[in-house]
Amino acid sequence: MTETNTPDLLEIAKKVLKKNDRGQWTVPAPELYPHQWLWDSCFIAIGLRHLDIERSQTELTSLLRGQWSNGMLPNIIFSKDAQYHEDRELWSSRVNPYSPADIATSGITQPPMLAEATVRVGEKLKMPDRRSWYQQMYPALLEYHQWLYRERDPHKEGLIILVHPYESGLDNSPPWISELRKHSMPKWVRLFEKLHLDFIVNFFRRDTRHVPAGQRISNVEALAYWAALRRLRRKAYNWEAILSRSLFAVEDLAFNAILIRANQLLTQIAKTIGEELPAELTKAMARSEKALEQLWDEDAGQYYTRSFISHKLVQDSTVASLLPLYAGCVSQERAKMLLNALYSPKKFGLRWPVPSVPKDSPYFNELKYWQGPTWININWLIIDGLERYGFTAEAQMLRERTLELLRNSGMNEYFSPLSGSPAGTENFSWTAALAVDLLKTS
Ligand code: GLC
Repeated sequence: MTETNTPDLLEIAKKVLKKNDRGQWTVPAPELYPHQWLWDSCFIAIGLRHLDIERSQTELTSLLRGQWSNGMLPNIIFSKDAQYHEDRELWSSRVNPYSPADIATSGITQPPMLAEATVRVGEKLKMPDRRSWYQQMYPALLEYHQWLYRERDPHKEGLIILVHPYESGLDNSPPWISELRKHSMPKWVRLFEKLHLDFIVNFFRRDTRHVPAGQRISNVEALAYWAALRRLRRKAYNWEAILSRSLFAVEDLAFNAILIRANQLLTQIAKTIGEELPAELTKAMARSEKALEQLWDEDAGQYYTRSFISHKLVQDSTVASLLPLYAGCVSQERAKMLLNALYSPKKFGLRWPVPSVPKDSPYFNELKYWQGPTWININWLIIDGLERYGFTAEAQMLRERTLELLRNSGMNEYFSPLSGSPAGTENFSWTAALAVDLLKTS
């Protein structure tokens, strides 16, 4: 990294964060994502902690505004602005009795990054303040993790079930698309597809107004996602009712890997403030670490997502297969295998790593959302995992490559792993925030 370039990147990143700041929370991107998103705000706080510690705390406490009384943390907390009435109505969180009375949210969650963000912010505080910070966040975190196990792990398998692709944060990741095509494609959507009527959805899509259509999910998939969302709403986001009828329920690899790390961090938080985690939760956490191994496919030599219903692995390879590195609970030998995939030019070892699906996947498309492009939050998770496994030089290399990509291509949502060209929306907050973090921690 050259010294002279460093301030430029930092200044550009700061500008994006300032532009997207809404006072108490940050929008992921001004036009495309005008509300507060759960895992976005976690990544944003991880960057903001270097710039304004109080503001980074507010970013996270703002997320708690949306917490449901059963513990669920929604993936979106809607802006109260009159122009977003339709966004709020689409979800109608009020249909569920646990949703907060005074604020509209979605009815589903997103990867549990909150414990990580809490600890990262805590690292910037000296001890008495760190303890108060943890005390402030602990009850909400505890309730959230308890909710995940209570409602999303009905058979106590240790693997959390997701019921909508948006919950994974990797919206159109291949396993979700194959499961969707198998189990959640209403007849009318198929008919629309056959008659080429799916373009109608364009009248309602915000994303394709801001980003070229080829870089987003297809119209048919968008219709099916919308139908899946309406189904959840009809069931009032009641998980028992949803799971009793649906075949569309997935034990998502990325989500579960992130949860395993979040559990370790929640344990660390509890220890720092002298709290004991409930025994049932501790047992569930241990089950998760073991259960991750059920997602390993010996023949393919990689981890996969699994269908909750069939209990079969969904053998579509994605970057999630590297996230057990972040979970930190797999053996050093396994970690080494993941490292090989990271460097293999047929898989993830492309010019501007790390692609969201490997190069040899039939889904690979360098610019299409979660089906090829490089995303900075995923790089951040992999860098952190590599560091904890002692692959220090590899972590440093990926960090430098990521910063170089951002210096060349700006603060976009995602990037071509082949040419490095920017894609998705511009001025994307977590790209900027994690650029700050990668710069400040190198
Ligand atoms: C997209 C991403 C999701 C993110 C959201 C807001 O939907 O797939 O992970 O949280 O945008 O940035």
